Amino acid sequence: MYRKIKQELISQEEIQEKIAQVGTTLTQQYQGKPLLLLCILKGSFIFMADLCRAIKTPCEIAFMAAKSYSATESTGKVEITLDIAHDLSKYHVLIVEDIIDTGITLAAITDILKQRNPLSLKIVTLLDKPSKRKNSLKADISLFTVPDLFVIGYGLDCSEHYRELPYIGVYDDE
Ligand code: IMP
Ligand code: MG
Repeated sequence: MYRKIKQELISQEEIQEKIAQVGTTLTQQYQGKPLLLLCILKGSFIFMADLCRAIKTPCEIAFMAAKSYSATESTGKVEITLDIAHDLSKYHVLIVEDIIDTGITLAAITDILKQRNPLSLKIVTLLDKPSKRKNSLKADISLFTVPDLFVIGYGLDCSEHYRELPYIGVYDDE
């Protein structure tokens, strides 16, 4: 089952170039503001590590985890498995997500976070798969739009494998 990669979809260089651009935008946007980068585990951990270093204004880092996916099928149910204890009324919160597919996970997370009255709440996602959306959820910044394929690498997994790949590939399910 290991190394079933059909093709490279987004190269390491393309990812890093986009992150540098988005980092510049976010640096300007959050300059002088108390910024909390909120990484949604596990898929976003590598994106978060690169993005936080591309943002040249002070920030705090926090992690949340939600479960909504088993293998390649969305279950449609969201469970918060790791939460934060921050007083969000003191922070501009930027959610850092790996991929928005149906949008179910992030809709649930944003609903919960809004109730905690953050100074602002925005979403940056590495990948957007708009063809699969089941609600009106939109990222404020999306680095790449991907077709309806199961993608892996750069943090994204298939049954916990492939997260360590430096690029985004298409999973070969044949
Ligand atoms: P959603 O709730 O359907 O938007 O799914 C969100 C989560 O499902 C993402 O944060 C990923 O962890 C996972 N996911 C969705 N599509 C893919 C994919 O193509 N590859 C790997 N993980 C995916
Ligand atoms: Mg995720």
